[in-house]
Amino acid sequence: MDSIVVTGNGPLHGQIPIAGAKNACLTLMPATLLSEEPLTLTNAPRLSDIRTMSTLLESLGAEVAQMQGGQVLTLSSHSITNHRADYDIVRKMRASILVLGPMLARDGHAVVSLPGGCAIGARPVDLHLKALEAMGAELDLRDGYVHARAPGGLRGGRVAFPMVSVGATENALMAATLARGTTVIDNAAREPEIVDLAQCLRKMGAQIEGEGTHTITIEGVDRLGGATHAVVPDRIELGTYMLAPAICGGEVTCLGGRIDLLAAFCEKLDEAGIDVTETEAGLTVARRNGRVRAVDVVTAPFPGFPTDLQAQMMALMCTAQGTSVLEERIFENRFMHAPELMRMGAQIDVQGGTATVTGVETLKGAPVMATDLRASVSLILAGLAAEGETIVNRVYHLDRGYESVEEKLRGVGARIERITGQ
Ligand code: UD1
Repeated sequence: MDSIVVTGNGPLHGQIPIAGAKNACLTLMPATLLSEEPLTLTNAPRLSDIRTMSTLLESLGAEVAQMQGGQVLTLSSHSITNHRADYDIVRKMRASILVLGPMLARDGHAVVSLPGGCAIGARPVDLHLKALEAMGAELDLRDGYVHARAPGGLRGGRVAFPMVSVGATENALMAATLARGTTVIDNAAREPEIVDLAQCLRKMGAQIEGEGTHTITIEGVDRLGGATHAVVPDRIELGTYMLAPAICGGEVTCLGGRIDLLAAFCEKLDEAGIDVTETEAGLTVARRNGRVRAVDVVTAPFPGFPTDLQAQMMALMCTAQGTSVLEERIFENRFMHAPELMRMGAQIDVQGGTATVTGVETLKGAPVMATDLRASVSLILAGLAAEGETIVNRVYHLDRGYESVEEKLRGVGARIERITGQ
């Protein structure tokens, strides 16, 4: 298994290009199952999760053609030849559940394994299933699979989510585009990836209103056509690289970055004493005056502070002046990076869903273990700021969500290398 070696090397300067959003692409790709005509996605990120989704869609009968080294994907699902998404593929990635709504909406039946994914909590799929039931689906859970049927086709319904779920909103939205009649999704997720999906579906001929608000209304249509769509920039990759100059000092421009994708996060950086400037090129981030200030963070659905940036923000707070309290409200068990950061000299006290971080002047390089995708990159960020060498072991999660991480960081002056394992 590969490791990454990082050596603290002082302030960073230069530009980092931001890729298309993994999480948007993973929901746009299954939208191919809704139409006989091709869907072309530009600005796709080159990540192992995207390859996993391609393999899954191919197993269902879709054709996936890659151009420009994988930055352009053309997906064609002339017909769905297999309606069973197997455990062997689904267990690798939780977003696989997103094929359920589209298959059911198009052909009235689907069998999908219950998913796996990052080990950051129980992460059930009950909300996905309740949404489809509200549209008339008959569901049966057996042998670790969801067996779904809608013999006369799905019909419009009222989907009222008791809590905000990004994936369940996406599944419901896709399914509703081909359901008979009107579907109203209440307490919908408002993430930029949902807006991106709705915009793409509209290009395919779907009738959708209200994306980006709490209530999305969909008028079902008989069929959807093809479309070409550019994937929205990855706000989590953006936030991660914005933290690199924040933690090491220097000035870095994240090309393609936009404040509207990360307003709550940018406010916290401002509070911490980091300058963020929006220009035509992207977001320029600079730390000029000594140590950052400690700030408190509570994760929340969009437009709140993203849970997917909590681990990276904790890495910054480890060297801040003062004490910060980070509350994780989306996923239980999402502080697995804390003991690893403590191996580097961080002072962190975790009690349930709250971590209290007392900033230290410097972190010290150490061998550490990556436990999930965002934890992996938080350890790299900490390593960039530490004295000496940090070896991040088991980095396979990193390749699920970050394209060319070593090249991008080396481009701004970081000392980072990959050691390829057996
Ligand atoms: C998506 C993102 C993930 C991000 C998360 C929250 C993708 C591929 N992944 O994950 O990176 O961390 O949003 O921003 O887009 N829940 C239930 N029942 C369900 C579904 C969810 O109880 O049926 C709970 C989850 O356990 C969690 C909360 O709802 O506590 C939010 O999860 P959700 O928004 O669904 O996350 P994902 O879509 O899985």
